Amino acid sequence: MRQLITADQIETGVTRLAEQIRRDFSGQPLTVLGVLTGSIILMADLIRKLDMPLRVGLVQASSYRGQTTTAGDLKLNPDLLPDLRQRHVLLLDDIFDTGQTLTALVELVQRQQAASVRAAVLLWKEGRSQVTAEPDYHAFRIPDEFVVGYGLDYNDEYRHLPYIAVLEPADLGE
Ligand code: IMP
Ligand code: MG
Repeated sequence: MRQLITADQIETGVTRLAEQIRRDFSGQPLTVLGVLTGSIILMADLIRKLDMPLRVGLVQASSYRGQTTTAGDLKLNPDLLPDLRQRHVLLLDDIFDTGQTLTALVELVQRQQAASVRAAVLLWKEGRSQVTAEPDYHAFRIPDEFVVGYGLDYNDEYRHLPYIAVLEPADLGE
């Protein structure tokens, strides 16, 4: 495993993200809708840097199955969704890879009659997108490698690492 983004760099990146969001929403009430499970650490760090009236919600999405690093069928579970009618919504995910997850979630939020919806991610992988939409906010562009840590997992492990690391073939057992 090789460190790609240090804990200090993440802290700086999340602070920058929060500044952009504070500037754009300028005090308007906001619902931050975190995508389970990868967004949990970013959620905890980011919302403490925001100062508008704020609600937190969660939605579950999964596209990876078991011990694989390739995307499978996207599954959305809206059971946890709060009432989003007339709310400004900021979708929050760990990474924008093919873009399928955030694109589907933006549509889901729009169907809830939200006032507006934007998307923020910690990482945006280069050269992978399969959709036309792009995240409104991102902290880091990264090369097309499989990364873990700061919420991101491989087979549900490594989410607790305080930094972002690249998993190498030996780590993957491939
Ligand atoms: P997308 O729908 O292809 O954009 O994928 C987004 C989801 O795939 C994220 O929420 C992550 O859970 C997962 N994912 C994509 N790339 C990686 C990676 O490099 N490491 C860990 N999870 C990833
Ligand atoms: Mg995820």
